[in-house]
Amino acid sequence: MTHVLQFYSVNTTLTAGNGGVLSFPPHFLWGTATSPTQVEGHILNEWTDYRARDGRTCHPACDSYHRYPEDIEWLVRLGVKGYRMGIEWSRLQAGPFAPLNQAELDRYLDQLDRLQAAGITPMVVLHHFSNPLWITKHGGWLNRATVEAFVDYVAKLVAALRGRVRLWNTFNEPDTYGSCSYLIGEFPPGDKWRFRAYCRVIRHMAQAHVRACQVIRQAGPAGAVEVGFSKNWTSFEALHPWSPWDRSIAAMSHLFFNRFVLHRFLGDGRREAATFLGVNYYGRVRFKHTRPMIPTFDFSRDQLAAMGVICDDMFERHPSGMEGALEKMQRQYGLPIYVTEHGSASTDEVFRERDLKENLVALHRAMGRGVDVRGFFYWSLMDNFEWQFGYAKKFGLIGVDFSDEKLPRVMKPLGRVYSAICRDNAVLNF
Ligand code: FCB
Repeated sequence: MTHVLQFYSVNTTLTAGNGGVLSFPPHFLWGTATSPTQVEGHILNEWTDYRARDGRTCHPACDSYHRYPEDIEWLVRLGVKGYRMGIEWSRLQAGPFAPLNQAELDRYLDQLDRLQAAGITPMVVLHHFSNPLWITKHGGWLNRATVEAFVDYVAKLVAALRGRVRLWNTFNEPDTYGSCSYLIGEFPPGDKWRFRAYCRVIRHMAQAHVRACQVIRQAGPAGAVEVGFSKNWTSFEALHPWSPWDRSIAAMSHLFFNRFVLHRFLGDGRREAATFLGVNYYGRVRFKHTRPMIPTFDFSRDQLAAMGVICDDMFERHPSGMEGALEKMQRQYGLPIYVTEHGSASTDEVFRERDLKENLVALHRAMGRGVDVRGFFYWSLMDNFEWQFGYAKKFGLIGVDFSDEKLPRVMKPLGRVYSAICRDNAVLNF
């Protein structure tokens, strides 16, 4: 379905290019994000024994399982008003259709109550790249029965958290999960080039998403509850537009990772299930001689920079792509948008500050053109376990020293910059 771009009243409150001040609308939700496997530690899911490239595991990550009260103090110090956090399915159910584990539930309830007391709105993510072992054992998301098991879990969880959670995020980046697990072998189960498996996983997740949205919206007071999934938006391009091979690979990637997934989740009327669309935007991937020009594919940042490809430790930075992606998605689906993740990994904090501001300028421009963006969540609250890369990628606003078993946290320069943005509800000196 194609929707006409609407112009919202926020336009009048946006003051771009005003002596270097970009103001955001009142009630714009400034937040930050984490996920259970990446920060909690002490987790029993298919990541537990997974060894990342640095030889380490997701245990104990940041030990947020025990230290969430302290982490909430950091959120307060940052001055964010939103926290996108996951609830880990494997902690709560011991098998299909089992009752929720009360002790584990109580811990999450305490976390949510502390957030509320601190004036921080949680956005709860139901699936962020991890499954209970009993789901993995039965084929994970390849098995249609996983949809029923997930919907049962969601119904029980929603009932248990009634009144505490207003913002729900069903699935985080099904495209990344499906491709890393079944195409490039980087996530458990580590399969490669199983295109049909990838499509099947996406289809099942999309079915589960629609059903979970119904459960959530029926349970919550109408109008108050918001629910959506988060799509990773990556632009795929050929480095040299005249290369037919690179253009074909880029077109195929776009078809598989963007169009197919958006269609399964939002096409044919399925968009009516959700109330918003989450967009995770990091940058773009360009291909040269069929190889992706990004640091994680064995190029150094300097080599890439010499070719005009400016990267953090993960992806090419491409702020104007954020603007284009947001406009395109608003036009196509007409749902309000939350930018549920953006961030950069680097130990160069000056680079990260520039990256953040450039992306917020692009976001602001999109809003000025009528895109209804309701909030922005910086990835991540703190340095954490970055899946196949282990602890090497530094995405945090807060630093964590993983060489010290006490896992001390420290505010980073970017944390201070972000804190000022949240406080001023504006980007200054961009
Ligand atoms: C996203 C994931 C998140 C984190 C960031 C860097 O794709 O959702 O967990 O790994 O990338």
